[in-house]
Amino acid sequence: MNQSEIIAKAGTFVKQALGNDSSGHDWWHIYRVTNTARKIAEAEKADVFVCELAALLHDIADEKLNASKEAGLQKVKSWLETNAVEKAKSEYVMEIIATMSYNGGNNQPMQTLEGKIVQDADRLDAIGAVGVARTFAYAGWKGHLMHDPELPAREQMTLEEYRKSGGTAINHFYEKLLKLKDLMNTVYGKKLAEERHKFMEAFLAQFYREWEV
Ligand code: ADP
Ligand code: NI
Repeated sequence: MNQSEIIAKAGTFVKQALGNDSSGHDWWHIYRVTNTARKIAEAEKADVFVCELAALLHDIADEKLNASKEAGLQKVKSWLETNAVEKAKSEYVMEIIATMSYNGGNNQPMQTLEGKIVQDADRLDAIGAVGVARTFAYAGWKGHLMHDPELPAREQMTLEEYRKSGGTAINHFYEKLLKLKDLMNTVYGKKLAEERHKFMEAFLAQFYREWEV
């Protein structure tokens, strides 16, 4: 298979694997992240194939959707092997996927340009109008409240606390989303993030205006 055939096949695999997920990792999340990753990769003259393939496969390994992080990563590895992806590229993709998740902000910075790009693309999908929508969808999936004025947001937390948080959708903005703008790796990513950040601030201001009339 050539590279574009591998990309097409990865798309089909992911569509089928994540199609009905309602935790915010459905196929359309992957579609948006892959397109954004391609755009940033072209702007940054990075390896577009590695960025697209890592973006397509990144949530197959998500901890929340697998028995363990290792089990998730193994799924990605098997797919890459079955489809005879060149060893160097395959290892590159695995390295990106293994290290890119937010983990409550406790991870090391990404080491490679391609890793930085895919992480930016994933983070961009967590902010802005789509980010707002995904946050409320996720909270519903978890059975969380959208807002509880008596439950303060925590700015600092361990990975355990981050995952377990009985947190609300609104608290998630303070615990993660409003921090992402300053964590962007690439110039293009940062520019897009600033616009989306402003939208979230406007959304929150309006939300509070309506909450206490
Ligand atoms: P994470 O690395 O935080 O798990 P994901 O990309 O897996 O991020 O999360 C999927 C979507 O759900 C994202 O839009 C994310 O911002 C949102 N999300 C994650 N955790 C929460 C939460 N506790 N409350 C509301 N939304 C959340
Ligand atoms: Ni994702």
